[in-house]
Amino acid sequence: MATIVPYTFEKKEEKALYFTSFVKGMKVLIATEKPFAKAAVDGMVEILEGAGHTVVRLEKYTDKTQLLDAVADVDALIVRSDKITCDVLAAAPNLKIVVRAGAGYDNVDCCDAKARGVVVMNTPGQNSNAVAELAIAMMIFMSRNCFTPGTGGEIKGKTLAIHAYGNVGRLVGCKGKALGMNVIAYDPFVSDCSVFECDGVERVESMEELYRRADFLSLHIPATPQTKGSIGYELLTSMPKGATLVNTARKEVIDEAGLCKALSEREDLKYVSDVAPECCCQMNEQFGKRVFATPKKMGAETAEANINAGLAAARQIVDFFETGNTKFQVNR
Ligand code: 3PG
Repeated sequence: MATIVPYTFEKKEEKALYFTSFVKGMKVLIATEKPFAKAAVDGMVEILEGAGHTVVRLEKYTDKTQLLDAVADVDALIVRSDKITCDVLAAAPNLKIVVRAGAGYDNVDCCDAKARGVVVMNTPGQNSNAVAELAIAMMIFMSRNCFTPGTGGEIKGKTLAIHAYGNVGRLVGCKGKALGMNVIAYDPFVSDCSVFECDGVERVESMEELYRRADFLSLHIPATPQTKGSIGYELLTSMPKGATLVNTARKEVIDEAGLCKALSEREDLKYVSDVAPECCCQMNEQFGKRVFATPKKMGAETAEANINAGLAAARQIVDFFETGNTKFQVNR
């Protein structure tokens, strides 16, 4: 069992004392099965080494044992969608902080990290524009028969329905408006209505209404126990004729059996996803160009997004060790 690090402190002085002992000389591992762009890694190394830390890298690893070995003596870890499960945390007795350079942190076992006193952070907003651009690109791609010959459609004038109005959803909405789409959104977790008003986006009161009106439904919900498998047959078959479901969120939020049933019964529906569904081959065979999935998750695969998220992760680690700043902690 790892040493429990007391990251909630009774007194300010205790906190100051704890963190001064870590200010420099921490070992930081950048572990990315899908590596960052070189410019991002260079910038991260510069920030971390500039603050007196040592950086080690594990990129394009093919086996979990490589990750288990690499974490053995590190104090901090930067990852992307790499799975930081309890066995990885158990193999890292010195670990104090994991930063997921990106938005979704469903790849990190946050509860186990908390039990071990390991702080988990994400870097919200840093790669959102890349994902939002991909969502729009996917809408156009599906409207134009996957760029194969034949008459397609335009997205202008269509209703773009955004499911979850966070950093990415909001950007997709703004881009959709700029392209002449009628944008509506649903997010029960955004209590401040002025966010929607200020963007000129109509807020709808229920998920059912959102799907019922969506020519394009852009998904931006995180994968949580509550959302996994939550988008299925009923919602999909309530969508208007010719509608397209665009998933740049997580494949786990889709009830794939329900999706396949909806696509079988409704020959007008389309599904486009960043990350292949489990039953992708069968879907491609059965539904042809009505279904498209990227071979590997590519929403945040731009140099800009890599640089923004990677540098933010490095800065957050430096700040955490220097001041104890846990602003972006997600496992309190
Ligand atoms: C995110 O949650 O930030 C995106 O899904 C990007 O994930 P990636 O870093 O694995 O590309």
